[in-house]
Amino acid sequence: MIGRLVVVGLGLIGGSFAKGLKESGLCREVVGVDLDPQSRKLAVELGVVDRCEDLATACVGADVIQLAVPILAMEKLLGVLATLDLGDAVLTDVGSAKGNVVRAAREVFGTTPARFVPGHPIAGSEQSGVEASNAQLFRRHKVILTPLPDTDPQALALVDRMWSALGADVEHMQVERHDEVLAATSHLPHLLAFGLVDSLAKRNENLEIFRYAAGGFRDFTRIAGSDPVMWHDIFLANREAVLRTLDTFRHDLDALRDAVDAGDGHQLLGVFTRARVAREHFGNILARRAYVDKAAADHLTFVGQPGGSVRGKIRVPGDKSISHRAIMLGSLAEGTTEVEGFLEGEDALATLQAFRDMGVVIEGPHHGRLTIHGVGLNGLKPAPGPIYLGNSGTSMRLLAGLLAAQGFDSVLTGDASLSRRPMDRVAKPLREMGAVIDTAAQGRPPLTIRGGQSLTGIRYVMPVASAQVKSCLLLAGLYADGTTTVTEPAPTRDHTERMLRGFGYPVGGNGATASVEAGSTLKATRIEVPADISSAAFFLVAASIAKGSDLVLEHVGVNPTRTGVIDILRLMGADLSVQNLREVGGEPVADVHVRHAPLKGVVIPAALVPLAIDEFPAIFIAAACAEGRTVLRGAQALRVKESDRIQVMADGLVALGIKVEPTADGIIIEGGKLGGGEVNGHGDHRIAMAFSIASLRASAPIRIRDCANVTTSFPNFLALCGQVGIRVAQEGQS
Ligand code: S3P
Repeated sequence: MIGRLVVVGLGLIGGSFAKGLKESGLCREVVGVDLDPQSRKLAVELGVVDRCEDLATACVGADVIQLAVPILAMEKLLGVLATLDLGDAVLTDVGSAKGNVVRAAREVFGTTPARFVPGHPIAGSEQSGVEASNAQLFRRHKVILTPLPDTDPQALALVDRMWSALGADVEHMQVERHDEVLAATSHLPHLLAFGLVDSLAKRNENLEIFRYAAGGFRDFTRIAGSDPVMWHDIFLANREAVLRTLDTFRHDLDALRDAVDAGDGHQLLGVFTRARVAREHFGNILARRAYVDKAAADHLTFVGQPGGSVRGKIRVPGDKSISHRAIMLGSLAEGTTEVEGFLEGEDALATLQAFRDMGVVIEGPHHGRLTIHGVGLNGLKPAPGPIYLGNSGTSMRLLAGLLAAQGFDSVLTGDASLSRRPMDRVAKPLREMGAVIDTAAQGRPPLTIRGGQSLTGIRYVMPVASAQVKSCLLLAGLYADGTTTVTEPAPTRDHTERMLRGFGYPVGGNGATASVEAGSTLKATRIEVPADISSAAFFLVAASIAKGSDLVLEHVGVNPTRTGVIDILRLMGADLSVQNLREVGGEPVADVHVRHAPLKGVVIPAALVPLAIDEFPAIFIAAACAEGRTVLRGAQALRVKESDRIQVMADGLVALGIKVEPTADGIIIEGGKLGGGEVNGHGDHRIAMAFSIASLRASAPIRIRDCANVTTSFPNFLALCGQVGIRVAQEGQS
């Protein structure tokens, strides 16, 4: 409980702060101070404050003093406060720039007072004055506090608590950082809006201009309706930071002018496409979260209702592996590549963003269509900062090979899950080729890649079967001296080899080896991405385990390096038929018809393991619903996927009443009756989807926590489930 809160300056911000806290009951009394008698009178009448007093009377004996006067008046006000005995009062302010306020406080008090907590609520409106006071003004708005090294932590905590009581989202930042950020995100746009309106208004034809000014002009200049005096103050107060951001912007504006002058449509398209995406993913990009909002991720829970059958005809989204490669090779090609069926999931979008960051102009995605303006094998530019790849291991491993061969340095980072995954499997052979790559401890991300190295081809025999390692080395091999040859201990997906050939790039080798040499070029082409068999797998299992099911999955990619799931389910007794087999852009595609059938446990043949490596979470659900025991061995790779898929699936199945025994490189599952209960998706998309379909055979609802990453590979999973009769939804939604 705070005794007396004094708010000096009863404008929109001060009035709203006072009113909100008065209503919150957090303060015994709220006293207002304002030079304008009319404002003082209104403040009391409108219930904004309990009463008004003069500055000295109000402040002596106060517990908290909030300074909400215009930013240039702040200096004078601090001077007066320095002459009063403020006791232990906590002093705070709402100024839009912080450097000048802190400087002024230092000057008048001789040192920065320990109980001074500079702050800035990022809220406001074009309205002003105490009559616009609104107790809800700060709800869900950011408030930035900029404590100094000697700020009293208790004073900071108190101010933090007051803003939180108003529903604000409080963050702490350094003074200088605050002023830089605000100059760019708030002050510059206001300057542009005021400047543009004034510039147009001065012209002779201004009446015409304003008459025809439609939505765009109105939207862009809305903030030119803001209080001129306040903004004049802000630009004077935050002069240095504003000048820096303005100079950078002027430089970029000149570049745009030059592009228009030179008729350089490519440059314009580049700026516009990057800007459009940046705006869409603004918050995430700012927080370097790429696309998935981690805060939301931890809380997204799915609930699967027991029972049901699976019927209909659906097409699942595009293949993730092929989508990544389409962006990569399309970017490195000469000419314009058109892509259809691109997976608009977070992982493939992370790859897309990485290439945009490296200067490639990519239009779309729009309903799975992309136009990639290739820059050629040597046309990539350094990204402006670390390349953030979210949850996507494929992006990081393949890009490592490509970037090791570029003339510039790169840093690759990822989210918490990706940051735990082993990267030495690519770093080690790349170093043998002459690459210079640093990793964090134990070969984990981030990867720091030194450019400008000349690479030499190697013959590499992979210790474990991995398409990511193979693809990484083949991409590096496009730039290496001599031949780069990769031999795999077991067949892995060969999309890279197929697509390289599709782009007219020769790939040698046969059977277990693939090899490339530098010196050829990639020629732009058209790519049709088939539906992802890894996403289809959930529905293949769903229809197999649920009585009465009859489902057709259309246009599924059935590349023989990916069809292990079909073979394993058939061994278990599933009723699957592959129909209408055809080839689309170098990849085999078919419709898969699946009907319910009783399943039995099997020992999974070792040769099928790499061909079904991503499908095991779904296959484990089939095993849990089968009669008898299923045994998997030789699948240690599962322990280092987006989660430890052996342990996490074992924990979930046990929670649902199934007997399982995880082993070092696999699992033994005794089929049985699935109960309901709670399981954890561990932020792994395939775990979340596997337990979702398990609900078809559960005796009670299954609650699956931490499911947001489903969007990495299958953004419309819940919608398609609903369409075919699987009753799974976000908790709280039907
Ligand atoms: C992928 C290869 C596989 C797979 C991953 C995608 C690819 O990983 O699990 O989801 O696109 O090359 P490994 O190559 O590590 O087995």
